[in-house]
Amino acid sequence: MSREMADALDNLPHEDRVRSRKLSGGVATIIADATGLSEAERKALEDELRSAAMNAPGVSEARVALTATQTARTLIAIGSGKGGVGKSTVTANLAVALARAGKKVGVIDADVYGPSQPTLLGNHSKPEGRDDKLLPVEAHGVRFLSLGQLVSPGHALAWRGPMATGALANLIDADWGDTEVLLVDLPPGTGDVQLSLIQRSRPAGAVIVSTPQDLSLIDARRAVDLFNKTSVPILGVIENMATYVCPHCGQASHPFGTGGAEDAAAEMGVPFLGRLPLSLAIREASDAGQPLAAEEEIFAAIAAKLLAAVAH
Ligand SMILES: Nc1ncnc2c1ncn2[C@@H]1O[C@H](COP(=O)(O)OP(=O)(O)OP(=O)(O)O)[C@@H](O)[C@H]1O
Ligand SMILES: [Mg+2]
Repeated sequence: MSREMADALDNLPHEDRVRSRKLSGGVATIIADATGLSEAERKALEDELRSAAMNAPGVSEARVALTATQTARTLIAIGSGKGGVGKSTVTANLAVALARAGKKVGVIDADVYGPSQPTLLGNHSKPEGRDDKLLPVEAHGVRFLSLGQLVSPGHALAWRGPMATGALANLIDADWGDTEVLLVDLPPGTGDVQLSLIQRSRPAGAVIVSTPQDLSLIDARRAVDLFNKTSVPILGVIENMATYVCPHCGQASHPFGTGGAEDAAAEMGVPFLGRLPLSLAIREASDAGQPLAAEEEIFAAIAAKLLAAVAH
């Protein structure tokens, strides 16, 4: 190869990403590092490198190979046995708390019965598709996709079995870019959707949300059992709607009891991540699409514990 020909590839765009360049027999071979780029950005990088190489003197063919250190994405399932215990509320708030702690966070709303993340996160826009993949929408520094975005309001209720699990696969395989932590807000119970998620995506761990009363805890044990049987580590239990502080007189009461979830966690040998009060402010913030507007400190503490649990 002549000196001129070697120099021909000296002026490529995205120098910081180019790892090697070679010109031989008119064929330019370029290897570039695409770590952290989205699908669309990868394509743009590849196209720009190819056309720059093709414009260089002596090049008749250009081959571009992209490498990437896989972002180790941690998938965390948020489940419960019983419905209405606050999984979705906890997921949205934890996601924003993790984002404020500097993590790149995504949320998948996998609730076939009643997707609620668009409301909780306050963004009802539809995701766009690019290169056959969905692009998550963003709110409060969190990327998210919801089954509810794929159908017109109300229609998700008609989904069951393979249709629901197929749609969920589209959300999981979406263009999550450099997202590090992906929280999956599950529908209540231990059915098809949970099983298909576990089988397809092998979550790094599961978080169980429960209220303190017995009925909820019986169902929480079922959820723990499902994850145990499928070898998904339980990262911890969160007790929700424990103490209620009267906004008028300040007196604390315990509508669903208190401590039940912590005791059950100890009994099952799984970590306890924290306790959230039954609070009007949480409910109002949820309805307003303003997660972390209430009880920010508690959510931040739970988020920190969760990250520590994942790291182990
Ligand atoms: N700590 C809390 N204090 C006050 N209200 C709460 C709290 N947690 C959740 N809620 C309210 O309880 C209701 C149910 O919560 P949420 O939808 O998060 O539960 P879920 O477990 O996801 O329900 P589903 O099983 O239907 O998916 C919502 O109206 C929510 O605003
Ligand atoms: Mg929910």
